[in-house]
Amino acid sequence: MNIYNKNISPKSVDFLQKIIKSNNNLPEINQKIENVCGIADFFKNTKDADFFKDKSLNLSDRSEKSEYGDYQTNTNLSVQVCELLKSKKINPNIIFEPTFGKGNFIISSLKTFDNIEQIFGVEIYKPYIQITKFKILDYFIQNLNQKAPKIKLFHANIFDFDTKKHININKNDNFLILGNPPWVTNTELSGINSKNLPRKVNFKNHKGLDAMTGKGNFDIAEFITNSLFEKFADKTGNFAFLIKNSVIKNILQRQIVNNYKITNLEKFIIDAKKEFNVSVNASLFYCKLNSKSDKLCAEFDFYTKEKIKEFGWVNDKFVSNTDTYQKYANFDGICQYEWRQGMKHDLTKVMEIEKVADNLYQNKFNEKFELEEELVYGILKSSDLKGETINKTRKYTIITQKKIGQATSFIKNDYHKTYNYLQSKFDLFSKRKSSIYKGKPAFSIFGIGDYSFKPYKIAISGLYKQLNFTLIKPDKNNKPIMLDDTCYFIGFDDEKEAEIIFEVLKSEEVKEFLSSLIFNDAKRSVTKDLLMRIDISAVMKNKNIRKNKNDNYLKISRRITPITQTKLALFG
Ligand SMILES: C[S@@+](CC[C@H](N)C(=O)[O-])C[C@H]1O[C@@H](n2cnc3c(N)ncnc32)[C@H](O)[C@@H]1O
Repeated sequence: MNIYNKNISPKSVDFLQKIIKSNNNLPEINQKIENVCGIADFFKNTKDADFFKDKSLNLSDRSEKSEYGDYQTNTNLSVQVCELLKSKKINPNIIFEPTFGKGNFIISSLKTFDNIEQIFGVEIYKPYIQITKFKILDYFIQNLNQKAPKIKLFHANIFDFDTKKHININKNDNFLILGNPPWVTNTELSGINSKNLPRKVNFKNHKGLDAMTGKGNFDIAEFITNSLFEKFADKTGNFAFLIKNSVIKNILQRQIVNNYKITNLEKFIIDAKKEFNVSVNASLFYCKLNSKSDKLCAEFDFYTKEKIKEFGWVNDKFVSNTDTYQKYANFDGICQYEWRQGMKHDLTKVMEIEKVADNLYQNKFNEKFELEEELVYGILKSSDLKGETINKTRKYTIITQKKIGQATSFIKNDYHKTYNYLQSKFDLFSKRKSSIYKGKPAFSIFGIGDYSFKPYKIAISGLYKQLNFTLIKPDKNNKPIMLDDTCYFIGFDDEKEAEIIFEVLKSEEVKEFLSSLIFNDAKRSVTKDLLMRIDISAVMKNKNIRKNKNDNYLKISRRITPITQTKLALFG
């Protein structure tokens, strides 16, 4: 079965056969079809017009689906999106679908809006263009009373498509950009050597922005959205795209530099698992074009339309919940303590060990071996950081260095058993992939320094969404407990001080403040940068937290003064 059998009704086949049989002239055939469904140049050439015989356009699964971020919108969803726009009194006369795929947005807009004069569409995959054309023809054959707008469907790459040349929008037009661009990142595409990438025009040229948002990785959808904002900056209209939440967040975050003329920004969260069968957080992103340059976005549930929150820029801070943030904005500063990431060894099977008996340990290969106790420390991972206080661990590790890069030759001289064990795994140590170990002493570890040996620590997981701080005390042998690199912590020499700061950090107020900054879509929601924003001095002055506190609290609170940039520089 070729694509047509599936996507075209017998009535339309009949219609086309009659026209083709009664005519040999392609422009005339196309004109007759255009009269019914509005599509210009329905058949590009006579071979196209032989569509009944064309068995090559078999759609039995597009092999490069992931390369094209190919997640077609189901009609139910595309209709709901159009209905939502209609409920906002949006009634476009020109529609542009920049990557129209199987055309469900085009069909849904024909069903929903009653003022469409022109539709423009671009799609890179030819079979989808054929499908869409036939679906549109079918639609008008079933709805003969509906006047067809002028429809131009381009087989083109959106990255090269000359919108100025093909889409002419006048002052009085009510323009709508509608669709669902590819769901794929440049990194994923580079990984498969794909050519489906924009030439990196301007996109990453915003110096400092990478530093702010992190990464050379960007979504193709984000690139397409930005270039449309640029191309249609002076056109009155509306914009509605289904995109990943991370893309919406980036658009908002970069608005501070991009200053696109977009306003009334709204995000309607959809259930991507239900709609696309993918585990991605995605939404309908809506905004008005050619207006002020807004930097806030209201968030709703797509299905109930209930408002959830608002996120975006509050002065010079990018936050995930503006209302909550404003309540605690004075906590947003520079932390007086330096948050550290835990230690890293990249060799779990060898370095994550359990205690079987005194001096006797077992690794993940189930091998048992003896170690001197001196270099063995209890270690906690993110999953261990439950509850309030911890002073014992399930797992142990070998701390081979006191600071990064320190020589490890002392182990051979002073700790024979430990050396024998490490040496027996020498190959595995040298095969560690990360470049941080290259040229470093044997058995090197990372994320280690004086701070690792502080007896008291306040730690939090970098992996979990719950904001749970844990107070960590020395173990029964009075040894400091270590944390792995999935955790962040502050170290203290003084138990009282650790206890007081712990009380402060675990307060509801701090949790709310942090949650107003966190975007739950991020892989690591808790980061060092986030924790370094807690101005502990300001938190300690908060009247709810301060009430009923004892003398120690007041003493420490007075000692911790707001931090200055110079002092911050000392953190290095
Ligand atoms: C997520 S799908 C959505 C399709 C359609 N907009 C919808 O809502 O169902 C993305 C579409 O973009 C197309 N595409 C991918 N890269 C493209 C490019 N560079 N130019 C034009 N279309 C592209 C894919 O072939 C696919 O049909």
